[in-house]
Amino acid sequence: MIVLGLESSCDETAAAVVTADGTILSNVVLSQVEEHAPFGGVVPEIAARAHITQMDRLVDQAMREANITFSDLDGVAATAGPGLIGGVLVGLMTAKAIATVADIPLIGVNHLEGHALTVRMTDGITFPYLLLLVSGGHSQILVVEGVGKFRRLGTTIDDAVGEAFDKTAKMLGLGFPGGPAVEKAAAKGDADRFSLPRPMSGRPGCDFSFSGLKTAVRQALENLGDTVTEQDKCDLAASFQKAAVDSLLNRLKQALKTYRDEYPDGTSLVIAGGVAANRYLREKLDELSHKKGYTLVVPPPKLCTDNGAMIAWAGIERLRLGLTDELDLAAKARWPL
Ligand code: KG4
Ligand code: ZN
Repeated sequence: MIVLGLESSCDETAAAVVTADGTILSNVVLSQVEEHAPFGGVVPEIAARAHITQMDRLVDQAMREANITFSDLDGVAATAGPGLIGGVLVGLMTAKAIATVADIPLIGVNHLEGHALTVRMTDGITFPYLLLLVSGGHSQILVVEGVGKFRRLGTTIDDAVGEAFDKTAKMLGLGFPGGPAVEKAAAKGDADRFSLPRPMSGRPGCDFSFSGLKTAVRQALENLGDTVTEQDKCDLAASFQKAAVDSLLNRLKQALKTYRDEYPDGTSLVIAGGVAANRYLREKLDELSHKKGYTLVVPPPKLCTDNGAMIAWAGIERLRLGLTDELDLAAKARWPL
């Protein structure tokens, strides 16, 4: 079984070809970072236009690198939401055109399910598993029980953690995209210099909150006055990163209690989404999993951030179960798991 997967829900245009045994035959990702950088964030109109300009070329490249033609495909998958609607439409309409021309099934994929199922392609792990899904738009703790079967244990009550990384980077003038910039600066900083809050820590339940932390970073920056040195910025980035990760760990510890009670056979703890590329988070989660007797499974960094392979794989998982879509499938800006 061979599936082409298209992704265009945010600021990456991506196309990939994946087979049913998890082999990635091609995985082409074109980042729009340079187009959005002058604005310090993703501009939806610019994103949609860039997807339109690039998608055909990327599909062509992914097919050529995989050394196949449309007639070799068993299905075509595209992100159908959630995301910036102008962008989602580009990938979905392209997939519909290919499905029509090649006379193959269309599979509309929930972008979050794409992130959530990636570890089954990379590591072949079985259901159930506990998933910390952390990206620019989402922060959730989910039990993944099966394809299309998710149980949400916690979510953010305000900002997503990736968004907090991005906004902190913007405040500190570290550039865009924020996550990798904060991580790089934090590596040179003193994480204990600034005392920042760990929102929601110690509270019952598993929900997150990151807007108070963001405000605390702004205040700490203002308290530094007019002359902020490079070292100040690195120290603040490190203190922020530590607080954000502490907060994620606290919530995950809560979730593990529920998970252990209700899913005694589950042995895997998984992180996915763009923030899973953060090495400090990975180290801390690795320590936690060891201590609690779980195995931490993390996709390689380039499969953590948005890509087409995760969409193609989710397409394969759905196609195997006969979960295909009609050509009138609508794109959705909002689509909770
Ligand atoms: O999953 P993703 O590529 O797109 C969404 O679906 O949102 O995640 C992007 C997010 C951004 O907020 C970015 O700053 C964050 O992931 N990110 C990171 C790192 N790499 C990407 N955050 C922290 N550390 C990183 N190394
Ligand atoms: Zn994503």
